[in-house]
Amino acid sequence: MSRKRVAVLISGRGSNMTALIAAAKRADYPAEIALVVSNRPDAGGLATAQHEGIATEVVDHKPFGKDRAAFENAIQAVLERHRIDIVCLAGFMRILTGDFVNRWYGRMLNIHPALLPAFKGLDTHRRALDAGVAEHGATVHLVVPDMDSGPILLQGSVIVRPGDTETDLAARVLAVEHRIYPEALKMLAEGRFAP
Ligand code: GRF
Repeated sequence: MSRKRVAVLISGRGSNMTALIAAAKRADYPAEIALVVSNRPDAGGLATAQHEGIATEVVDHKPFGKDRAAFENAIQAVLERHRIDIVCLAGFMRILTGDFVNRWYGRMLNIHPALLPAFKGLDTHRRALDAGVAEHGATVHLVVPDMDSGPILLQGSVIVRPGDTETDLAARVLAVEHRIYPEALKMLAEGRFAP
């Protein structure tokens, strides 16, 4: 079976992108990272991807102003040009419209740094500490128009320790993210997840 062509969409450092690239180097992995797209020209992950010999594209959202559809059309054109099968959002900090999301339904994943449905949105680690939860973690899910919703493929949890700071917790959850995102992409690429 031919390997699925994956685009990773980033806005920043791209450590999840790096984990996906590392996993996809295995000969038996069912997907290849064919493209990295950033909406920010200064995203640190772009240099990492280039160093790995992966095609990169910048689709800066700024010139599009409030015209989300035009921004997404530009992204769609890039994805089509690179014959992309699956999109992985990895710290991509733009909200996508229902039209774009529905077009990719079943073929677009996101990773969220919390045990969904708890703590949707931003500042998840601080909010988890404030809430006093005993367990926290990360979730990989299919993207649907509602933010941080959608069928869950995998979750991984960590114990919240007494005295944990936001930074401590973020680091432990990030290690979980780097483990579960490649595993979830593998599931999707092998057709082992049917929502
Ligand atoms: C991760 O915590 C991810 O869960 C969230 O944004 C962060 C991106 O980090 N969606 P990185 O760019 O993958 O290092």
